[in-house]
Formats: sequence, structure tokens, C-alpha cells
Amino acid sequence: MRRAVIVDIVRSPFARGRENGTYAGLHPVNLYADVLAALVRRTGIDPALVEDVITGCVIQVAEQAGNIGRQAVLAAGFPESVPAVTLDRKCGSAQQAIDFAAQGVIAGAYDVVIAGGVERMGLVPMKVNRMGKDNEGDRFHARYPQGLIRQGISAELIAARHGLSREELDRFSLRSHQRAAADREGVKRDIEPIAWTDATGAARSLAADEGVRADSTLEKLMSLKPAFEDPAMLARFPEIRWGVTAGNSSPVTDGASAILIVEEKMAERLGLTPRAAVTHFALAGDDPIMMLTAIIPATKRLLSRAGISIDAVDAFEVNEAFASVVLGWQKAVGADPEKVNVFGGAIALGHPVGASGGRLMANLLRVLESRGGRYGLQTMCESGGMANATLVERL
Ligand SMILES: CC(C)(COP(=O)(O)OP(=O)(O)OC[C@H]1O[C@@H](n2cnc3c(N)ncnc32)[C@H](O)[C@@H]1OP(=O)(O)O)[C@@H](O)C(=O)NCCC(=O)NCCS
Repeated sequence: MRRAVIVDIVRSPFARGRENGTYAGLHPVNLYADVLAALVRRTGIDPALVEDVITGCVIQVAEQAGNIGRQAVLAAGFPESVPAVTLDRKCGSAQQAIDFAAQGVIAGAYDVVIAGGVERMGLVPMKVNRMGKDNEGDRFHARYPQGLIRQGISAELIAARHGLSREELDRFSLRSHQRAAADREGVKRDIEPIAWTDATGAARSLAADEGVRADSTLEKLMSLKPAFEDPAMLARFPEIRWGVTAGNSSPVTDGASAILIVEEKMAERLGLTPRAAVTHFALAGDDPIMMLTAIIPATKRLLSRAGISIDAVDAFEVNEAFASVVLGWQKAVGADPEKVNVFGGAIALGHPVGASGGRLMANLLRVLESRGGRYGLQTMCESGGMANATLVERL
């Protein structure tokens, strides 16, 4: 049987996604192109062998419009023969890119493929693609007459459903920062420093993630105001306790990632050393109002498909969209918290929505390598009430 193996993963440093943030002046095509070029350089793969570049990007308008994957392939200097496609699976887009790439390899559609993603949330903000229009339609509204809600409200509902206190959310976030801070040296393996010229012609560069706060304290986190407080939402959902803050949410972020996935025997022929095989995949949908809970059925479906128990998994990466999402998942699936997001997660590192799936996979592989583990499971919640789950086996 054909197997899909991950040869390597490269990502950019993650910057805060502010309008005039660190990456201001850096075109998202250039950001992604730098990461693609670094992946090719580091692995030594001949880019002419790459049969597709499957790219996650959620807000595909303005600078990110028109199949940004293809623009980046050309900007990276790859041969014109290398195609690309850009997909939107919301926050799980780069994970979906990995899944499609690996599935294509297993099916015999590719031998060499790059998965990846890019999002400059500070430049192309979420929701601008709606252009003030209704993107749901009357039949959708008839089914959900009260409408869907902001993700932060869904995070509040998850906290309420699982009885998670504000302190539990903030302790989880503190741990994310502490774990990411402890991994400052280790993470350098994944990161390609980025250099560019800003609008004023000045030389700029970034070599490390901006969001990690080594000095964060529980007191400071507990002092932050709820970020999504809204009387209309409280009237609709009286169970809400307003515990979700900027401190226990993932921040708006800019970044890019790229993953080289190759058919196992082809990797051997090319002299590439694979890090892990991508072996099983699952998707799930769940209540779009709770929105961030489909990671639970996706995880269960994945484990059942792989025929292993949750205890057989050595490391989990569960996207920290909000602290309540991961804590609710942990309670529901019974995962050991010591195996979850061992090097920190999106609350500290940031969450550039189109690219994050590659960052989670990079951490997952390093955790497995550092602990000698075999199975790694990655899952990400997605707007609209969906989730991807992927199982890898370290080689
Ligand atoms: C939650 C959210 C609304 C907060 O936005 P914001 O108010 O602009 O966030 P900021 O980063 O400015 O943080 C607000 C304050 O909290 C503080 N803060 C945040 N995290 C902290 C921490 N770990 N320790 C100490 N202080 C912290 C900041 O310093 C800031 O204080 P200041 O104004 O005094 O500087 C925003 O991050 C968000 O929308 N996140 C979700 C993004 C999203 O939807 N992603 C896709 C789906 S998951």
C-alpha cells in the first residue's frame, strides 16, 4: 500500500495581526513564497518534482484573492510547471491541505506535494469578504432564525456547558504561554526568519513568534475584561458567565506554513528522511451555534477508524482557538492533559487561520520526536461547526 510521509515542515514566525503590525508592508504572497522557498531549500527537493501546492487561506479577497497559492509558487521562483490550489476549511484550512495532500499521495494522484497555508489577518481581516452582503440566504435563515453567533460567544457556551470556571480558562492560558516560552529554542527548528522591505524602504525582519508572554501571570490574566460581553447574547443564552477574554482566546495573527509530503518509496529514492506517516483522517460536523465542538466527534471517528484507543495516542495538538474549546474536548474524550499541546498552543503562539494547521503539525512532530512517541493526533475546530482530525505515526 502507498504511504504518505511528511519530510519536513517550515513556518514563518507568527506576528500579531494588527493593521500596522510587524508584517505591515509584507505582501502575503511574499510571506508564503518565503516559506515555500525555505521548505525546498531545507529539504533539497527539486521544486520541479512538486505536483501541487495545496494552500489554506480563509479570506480570499484583496491581497489574498485569486488562488494565492499559485501567486506564491511563482513568486518563490518555482518552475512555472508547478500548479497550486487554494482552499477554505476555515481555521482548519492548512490541516485540510495536509489531509488532501496525504490522501492524494495514498490514492496515487501525487508522488510529491506541498501542503501549506497563509493568512495575514492584520491586512485582510475576517468577514471583509462578505462585502456587507448576506452570505447565508433565506433557507439558511429559516433553519436558524436567530442566526449564528460570534465564535467568542460559542466559546462562552462551551465554558458554560462544561462548567469551566474563569480561573480554569486562565490557568490553561498561562500554561500555554509557559510551555511555549519553554520551547523557545526547540521551535527554531520549524521557523524560517523572514526579511522584507517595508513601505518606507526600511529593511525589516522577524525571527520569533511575537505572542508568547513568558512573564504572564494568573493575576494579570484574571484581571482582563470579558471580550465578548453583549446583553442581547445574555438574553438569548442566560447560561453564559462571561469568562472569555483576550487572554484566554487565540489572538488575531499573521503567518504562513508549508509541509512537504511525499510517497514513502519516492522519498527513499530521493534520499529524503521522512519524519512521520500521515495514516488516518476524519471530518465531523456539529451544531453550528456551539460551532467549536466538532473536534469531539472528529476525534472519536478518527480513533475508531484507526482502531486505537485514546490512551494509545502519545501526543495531541488541539487548536487553542479558545481555552474552553480544548478543556471541553479534554473532558469529553478523556485525553491526558500532559499529552495535549505540550509546547504550547495558539493562545500563546497565535492563530493565522489559513496557516495554523501546519504549525500544529510541526509541534506535533517535535513532541513525538522529543518524547519518542508513536501516534500523534491533531484536531482543529472550524467556523460553521466543523472539524478535521488527522493521525500521524512517527517514523
Ligand atoms: C479576543 C479578541 C477580541 C481580543 O482582541 P484585543 O482586545 O484586540 O486583544 P489584545 O491583544 O489587544 O489584548 C487586550 C488586552 O489584554 C492583554 N492581554 C492579552 N493576553 C494577555 C496575557 N496572556 N497576559 C497579560 N495580558 C494579556 C493585552 O496586553 C491587552 O491589554 P492592553 O490593552 O492593556 O495592552 C481577539 O484576540 C480575537 O478576536 N480573537 C479571536 C480571533 C479569532 O476569531 N480567530 C479565529 C477563530 S478561533
